Amino acid sequence: MIGRRGLCGKFMEEELLRLQKEASNDLAALKDPKELEIFRVRYLGRKSEFTGLMRKLGQVAPEDRPRLGKLANDIKEDLDNQFNIRKQELEEAALTGKGSKVSLDLSLPGRAYPFGKLHPVTQIMEEICTIFEGMGFGVAEGPDVETDFYNFEALNIPKHHPARDMHDTFYINESLLLRTHTSPMQARIMENREPPLRMIAPGKVYRCDSDITHTPMFHQVEGFLVDRKVSFADLRGILGVFIARMFDDRTAMRARPSFFPFTEPSAEIDIACVICRGKGCRVCKQTGWLEILGAGMIDPEVFRQVGYDPEEFSGFAFGLGVERIAMLKYGINDIRLYYENDLRFLSQF
Ligand code: DAH
Repeated sequence: MIGRRGLCGKFMEEELLRLQKEASNDLAALKDPKELEIFRVRYLGRKSEFTGLMRKLGQVAPEDRPRLGKLANDIKEDLDNQFNIRKQELEEAALTGKGSKVSLDLSLPGRAYPFGKLHPVTQIMEEICTIFEGMGFGVAEGPDVETDFYNFEALNIPKHHPARDMHDTFYINESLLLRTHTSPMQARIMENREPPLRMIAPGKVYRCDSDITHTPMFHQVEGFLVDRKVSFADLRGILGVFIARMFDDRTAMRARPSFFPFTEPSAEIDIACVICRGKGCRVCKQTGWLEILGAGMIDPEVFRQVGYDPEEFSGFAFGLGVERIAMLKYGINDIRLYYENDLRFLSQF
C-alpha cells in the first residue's frame, strides 16, 4: 500500500485500529499473571508490530502525519492503561483465587483443628489423686516391672502361699514380674521414710486375664496412712470423704469382712448401687451394693519387713481399680471399651 506519495494514511489508520482491537481482546482473554509479559512483548515491546507501525509514520503523507501520530499515541496510552488495569486484576485474582480452580478466601476464619482429650481412665485417675491430695496425701509412682520381693514377699505373701493364685501373674523370670497390683509401693515407700506417712500410688498393673470385666493391663491407685494410734474408724472416715467427692455425698458405703495377706483385719468396701440407689437391679445383681475397693489395717508383718515397730505404729491401706470406678461413674458395662481406641467412645468423656 505504498502509493506515489508514500504509505497510504488510510491503511495506516486501519492497521492501528485493528491492532488496538486485537490487543484489547487478547488482554481480556489472559488468565494468568505469567502471561502478561508475553502480551507486553508482543503488543507493546520494542519489536512489536505496533512499534513497527510507529516507525513507519514518517513514510505517510505529511498532511496525515499529525493526525496519525496523535492516533498512534492515544492507542499506545490506552493499551498501557488497559494493560495496567488487567495486570492488577489478574494479580488480585491469583491471590484470592477468584477465577482460578482453587478458591481461597483470605477473609474466612482459619480451619479449627479439634483438641485431643485425656483418656477417661486418665481423667478418673487424676480426679482420684486430686481428692486424696486434698486430704493431705502425697503422690508417688513406682516401676511396672517389679521384683517378686516387693510384689509378694514384702506384703506377707511368701512363695507357694495360696494367695498368689489370686494374681494371674506375668513372670519375666524367677524374680522379676509385671506388678499385679500397686500395693508393692507400700513397702517401697515405707522402707525409705519414717511415719507419719500419707501416700497414694497410682499406676498400671498387669494380670493374665481378659473378659468383659478384666483386661490384661489396668490401673490401680494404692493408698495408705501410717501414724501412731490409727484406727479402722480413720479408714472409714477417709474413704467416706473420697466416696462422697467421687460419686455424691448421699452415696452410702459399707465394709464387708474379707481377706488380704497384707492387712488385718481386711475389708471390701461397697457403695450403694449408683444405678438403682440400693433398690436392686441387674448392675448390682439385685444386692443394691457395688464393690469398689479393698482395704484394711496394715498387717504387723508388713511393718516388720520395712523396719517399723508394729507396737508403736499402726496404719490402714486401700487399693482401688480405676477402670472399675470409671465404669460405675459413667455406666459403662464392658471394660474392654477403654482399650479399643474407638474415638466415638473415647470422645464422650
Ligand atoms: N492389692 C489388692 C488387689 O490388687 C487391693 C488391696 C486390698 C490393696 C487391700 C490394699 C488393701 O492396700 O489394703 O487386689
